Amino acid sequence: STERKYMVAGNWKMNGNRALVDDFKKNLAVPSAVDVLICPPAPYLSLFDGAEFLVGAQTISEFEKGAHTGDVSASMLADLGVNHVILGHSERRQDHGESNEQVAAKVKLALDSGLTPILCVGEPLSVREAGEVNAYVQQQIDAVLDVCGDRFFDKAVIAYEPIWAIGTGKTASPEQAQDVHAFIRAHLLKSSSAAQQMRILYGGSVNAQNAKELFAQADIDGGLIGGASLKVDDFNIICQAA
Ligand code: G3P
Repeated sequence: STERKYMVAGNWKMNGNRALVDDFKKNLAVPSAVDVLICPPAPYLSLFDGAEFLVGAQTISEFEKGAHTGDVSASMLADLGVNHVILGHSERRQDHGESNEQVAAKVKLALDSGLTPILCVGEPLSVREAGEVNAYVQQQIDAVLDVCGDRFFDKAVIAYEPIWAIGTGKTASPEQAQDVHAFIRAHLLKSSSAAQQMRILYGGSVNAQNAKELFAQADIDGGLIGGASLKVDDFNIICQAA
């Protein structure tokens, strides 16, 4: 991770309110060497105008525009000045049945609108126990590469989030995470040398105590933080650890 700029992204999921937005705008300190990003629920996005950190959405529609009640398009986010979006989070895949193909369509739309997609991949516990993590993650990535082409390598960020580590307090060990990150990078490098520059973030029970050791791994270029991104003091410590 020497030549790659670290990114620390907070995924608020369906949490937060106006007061938390104000707290973060006032008290989040951005280290100059780190891209710091907060992804609040969509209705709060425009409250972040004037923030000194980056702001991203948590999903977009798989459709471009039109009769899709409740959906928010990639181009609307770009219009608002939002330039990052989390895509393919395991909670979207679970709650809304998002398939690899739907996730791929969303990544493509994000790229078409100039957004930086943060593509989430990661295995359930059964897959880890079966020893099939790499194949599982490779499938999730290949579905996206199939439709996105080279732009993906220039723009996208990947987040490896093992599902069993999300919100469980049970983080992957630095070695477990590094193994998968190294596999992901090697796999991407088969398609493009630009993969050397791509950020691969780790997500899953990252907190103020364990961030430093995780971020010290060679192919871990920052984190995607859930629970610990809801407290500005903890989140500041995690940003400092990058
Ligand atoms: O997207 C971040 C996430 O899924 C990790 O959540 O609460 O385990 O940090 P958490």
